[in-house]
Amino acid sequence: MIEITNLSKSFGSNKIFENINLTVKKGELVALVGFSGCGKSTLLKIIAGLEPKDSGEVKLSSNKLGMAFQYSALFDSLNVRDNIVFPLIIGEHIKKLPSEDELNAIAAQKLALVGLTGIESQFPSELSGGMKKRISFARAIVNDPEIILYDEPTAGLDPVASTIIEDLIVKIQKETKSAGIVVTHQASTIKRAVDRVVMLYDCSIVWQGSPKELFDSANSDPYAKQFRDGTVEGPMQVKS
Ligand SMILES: Nc1ncnc2c1ncn2[C@@H]1O[C@H](COP(=O)(O)OP(=O)(O)OP(=O)(O)O)[C@@H](O)[C@H]1O
Ligand SMILES: [Mg+2]
Repeated sequence: MIEITNLSKSFGSNKIFENINLTVKKGELVALVGFSGCGKSTLLKIIAGLEPKDSGEVKLSSNKLGMAFQYSALFDSLNVRDNIVFPLIIGEHIKKLPSEDELNAIAAQKLALVGLTGIESQFPSELSGGMKKRISFARAIVNDPEIILYDEPTAGLDPVASTIIEDLIVKIQKETKSAGIVVTHQASTIKRAVDRVVMLYDCSIVWQGSPKELFDSANSDPYAKQFRDGTVEGPMQVKS
């Protein structure tokens, strides 16, 4: 479970969150949507403990956490295999190091899952952006996390690669009963994968509901409507 209470955060005079409350239950996957720069990545980083908060509380039911970063954040000097198995060999939580054969098998299995078999020995500089995204995804799930944070896991992927990732997100969610947050604007990801959508704007959560409610043309909530129709006019204004 992820439990965020009265969270506030600013970068200098740039206020990002003011008293945000959000709970994600075990087994639930929430989509986080909102304009570019509204703080989606920052919220994931605060949950992961990578960015300090100003005030409020973030409680996690487990410290087994996986995160797929928006810009992949692979280690340039490590090959694909070592990037994927990194969470299994580094960290205070490691009780017993897996053998090289075990690591090879795990990396091969995760690569197959994301549709990239046989590229263990390649380096990030040799991969396309979409391939790096999928490697980052494989690394995020290698540890069987109970809390999973995905930052735009399907942005920039072709429709088939997107579907593979969306199906994987759903499968992992069902199998592990983890609590997850996925930052995404892709309607396909929202419709196929998530239980609830949370919309951020101007430091607050301005709307939340099911994907069905979001895309229901009868839903006249101005925030849901503006998101659905992608109109410039509406309660949410792009700041210059
Ligand atoms: N380390 C930092 N120092 C100062 N400002 C930051 C830092 N990280 C993020 N910001 C600012 O916080 C705001 C939110 O950034 P964030 O990356 O969380 O947005 P986002 O919603 O993920 O956007 P996008 O959809 O473009 O990825 C932006 O105004 C950004 O400039
Ligand atoms: Mg972001």
